[in-house]
Amino acid sequence: MKKNISLTRYLVEQQRVDGLIPGQLRLLLEVVARACKRISFAVNKGELGEVMGTAGSENVQGEVQKKLDIIANETLIEANEWGGHLAAMASEEMEGIYVVPNRYPQGEYLLMFDPLDGSSNIDINMSIGTIFSVLKKPEGHPGVTEEDFMQPGTQQVAAGYCIYGPQTTLVLTVGDGVSMFTLDREQGSFILIEENVKIPEDTKEFAINMSNMRHWDEPVKRYVQECLAGEEGPRGKNFNMRWVAAMVADVHRILCRGGIFMYPWDKREPQKAGKLRLMYEANPMSWLVEQAGGAATNGRQRILEIQPTQLHERVSVILGSKNEVERVTRYHSEA
Ligand code: AHG
Ligand code: MN
Ligand code: MN
Ligand code: MN
Repeated sequence: MKKNISLTRYLVEQQRVDGLIPGQLRLLLEVVARACKRISFAVNKGELGEVMGTAGSENVQGEVQKKLDIIANETLIEANEWGGHLAAMASEEMEGIYVVPNRYPQGEYLLMFDPLDGSSNIDINMSIGTIFSVLKKPEGHPGVTEEDFMQPGTQQVAAGYCIYGPQTTLVLTVGDGVSMFTLDREQGSFILIEENVKIPEDTKEFAINMSNMRHWDEPVKRYVQECLAGEEGPRGKNFNMRWVAAMVADVHRILCRGGIFMYPWDKREPQKAGKLRLMYEANPMSWLVEQAGGAATNGRQRILEIQPTQLHERVSVILGSKNEVERVTRYHSEA
């Protein structure tokens, strides 16, 4: 590994060598990283920075908003609206799209984000994160509408997340593998720590909120029961379980050492969809996982191929080590 490569240098070199990152996209990624740096500092201040607790409002999905959900959302918007690289943004914390105000130039990209993932972890000093996904605005018409965002995950041109844990680490793909950058607080920049991240195809670790077991569909029950049966069961090996309750942290663990993460549809939901949102949680994470050699499905279909119909659409998520994801997906087709 080359030493001390900053995110800026990495993006410039990728632009130069592979032509994978056009100038506007490079600016966009730099700006997102800068916003994440600011969010990281706010997160670190905690009680000292008056950023803890609830804001007393609800988002469009009926969740109580934490102060940090709103601070992170505003930080991302303020950082991104003026640079001329975006046409519009969409976020978990905003009902409709946010069109770049016309006092600024309009760019060709669309940015979606979950500004603060793992909100229930904020007040207990546990890992949280920011997730983002970038699309190109379809050509051929002036202005921008919500319809422009309705593109399957295969159309993403960049995706990533930033985890605010013991270290702040930005994880990124532009379709050429997955790279990780850790924030060096003395230098104030993200430094490359790993390229070509790979998820092992097999694993003995699963992540799911077990308290929902009685509500799951049969295929998911079958898979988890077989894991729980350990060496004596049909899998013939013992499994370990982890659940951070922040998708960013659970996916980060999987990118670091493998595993399978599931947030499946459950019977309390009116439609056949889980808790997580397709556009700014499932799609970016699925692309990262696929780029690292893993797989991501909703039990029946590759997540990246789902045609979205709503900005805040929810989806069943099964992602991680390839052979395990294929197994759960097979159980769905056998059921
Ligand atoms: P968010 O905080 O952005 O609303 O997302 C929370 C999600 C996801 O990060 C995590 O995997 C899941 O909720 C945790 O759900 P449980 O509370 O059921 O554990
Ligand atoms: Mn939320
Ligand atoms: Mn989230
Ligand atoms: Mn969130």
